[in-house]
Amino acid sequence: MSDARQAPLKIAVAGLGTVGASVLKLLDAQASLIEQRCGRRIEVVAVSARSKGKDRGVDLSKVQWFDDPVAMAAQSGADLVVELIGGSEGPARDTVATALETGKHVVTANKALLAVHGTEIAQKAESRGLTVAFEAAVAGGIPIIKGLREGLAANSVSEIHGILNGTCNYILTEMRTTGRDFADVLADAQALGYAEADPSFDIDGVDAAHKLAILASVAFGTPVDFSSVYIEGIRQVSAVDFDYADQLGFRIKLLGIARRTEAGVEQRVHPCMVPKTAPIASVDGVFNAVVAQADFADRVLFVGRGAGAGPTASAVVADLVDIARGRSTPTFGVPSDRLGAATPSPMEARRGSYYVRLMVVDRPGVIADIAAAMRDQNVSMEQFLQRGRSPDEGVPVVLTTHDTEEAAMQRALATIAASDSVLEPPRMIRIEQF
Ligand SMILES: NC(=O)c1ccc[n+]([C@@H]2O[C@H](COP(=O)([O-])OP(=O)(O)OC[C@H]3O[C@@H](n4cnc5c(N)ncnc54)[C@H](OP(=O)(O)O)[C@@H]3O)[C@@H](O)[C@H]2O)c1
Repeated sequence: MSDARQAPLKIAVAGLGTVGASVLKLLDAQASLIEQRCGRRIEVVAVSARSKGKDRGVDLSKVQWFDDPVAMAAQSGADLVVELIGGSEGPARDTVATALETGKHVVTANKALLAVHGTEIAQKAESRGLTVAFEAAVAGGIPIIKGLREGLAANSVSEIHGILNGTCNYILTEMRTTGRDFADVLADAQALGYAEADPSFDIDGVDAAHKLAILASVAFGTPVDFSSVYIEGIRQVSAVDFDYADQLGFRIKLLGIARRTEAGVEQRVHPCMVPKTAPIASVDGVFNAVVAQADFADRVLFVGRGAGAGPTASAVVADLVDIARGRSTPTFGVPSDRLGAATPSPMEARRGSYYVRLMVVDRPGVIADIAAAMRDQNVSMEQFLQRGRSPDEGVPVVLTTHDTEEAAMQRALATIAASDSVLEPPRMIRIEQF
């Protein structure tokens, strides 16, 4: 080992919130283990956050403080900058750019930044011989990036799907087990700290979509393409859908799915019904899970905590250990100039089956009209459930279809929605047969 490898790896940490403070605590608590594993120490030389006076439960007396993380990236004398501020623009983006421009490696947990600017950041790093590592950006404590990029490096991956947002999984699990409505469970999740005061990034599927775009790039060797992800969140899932799902043998999960098809690369985030027997169906609460379909290794399932101080810090420090050991991997597993362009497959081309819930007036001919709207689009029904009767009043009707194309399903639903006998907009959840 050369002398340079023996010198401590000097790091500067931008952002001392949930993750940043936890990274400092972990580095302190595991210092001797990390030194043993890396053959050198990891030394924090500088930090930056907004409020200098805030008690973060860590000793900052021996490190240099910067009010401005961009100045820290340029001037701290560190070998590496850890970016834990968050957001796709502003100080996080500027800190990462400055770190790379001044010759420093970067470790980040920032999925929004990588989903939007990942390819450009990878190019900047690789052209300077620097590493950008981001294990913590996807599924927190689960080593999914290393799992795909290193563990499955000998495989071609055709599909990846997963529960990528713990807040949504917690809400859906609570709705199923308690029978409560979405708004009620969301309020509880906020009180418990599982959901943000502004929960829209989580519950509208954007956070899962950021992670999916990164995963798809690593899995398929293609540039990160967040703008092609179809995104639908969980606001429309109702308590009654869980009863019907149960009767039909399904669980409801918000999934991110990326698949290579003949039409191109599908990337989509939306609520799904999955068979109760699918391994992912029993991953509940705040847990995340990712399944990869690989040609030689076959199906691989990763499960663990997708967020939280400890699991996320664990992933950040694993990246620091890699860099301290002198290990460098192209950012997305393939040198950025060799990422193969992919044609996005539009959502309308999705093939699969569907669950549809309608509120209809209970009178003769209504069911025949619904069946005709489906038949006219070549959509074939598989199951039909009608609970109770209430002549001339609203009754819920649920149906599932055989495999069909999304575009045909949407046309059938538009016809059904326009009928006088249909009292509410139809609710549709896609069925995924994993
Ligand atoms: N929390 C998780 O479980 C988790 C899991 C996976 C990935 N991540 C990602 O990790 C990153 C950090 O998340 P977090 O939960 O730790 O966020 P957080 O608790 O909100 O912390 C953000 C930190 O950034 C600092 N900051 C904000 N604007 C700044 C600026 N202009 N200049 C300097 N410092 C600034 C804040 O300073 P003050 O403390 O002084 O306000 C705070 O210390 C995000 O990209 C997030 O997506 C988080």
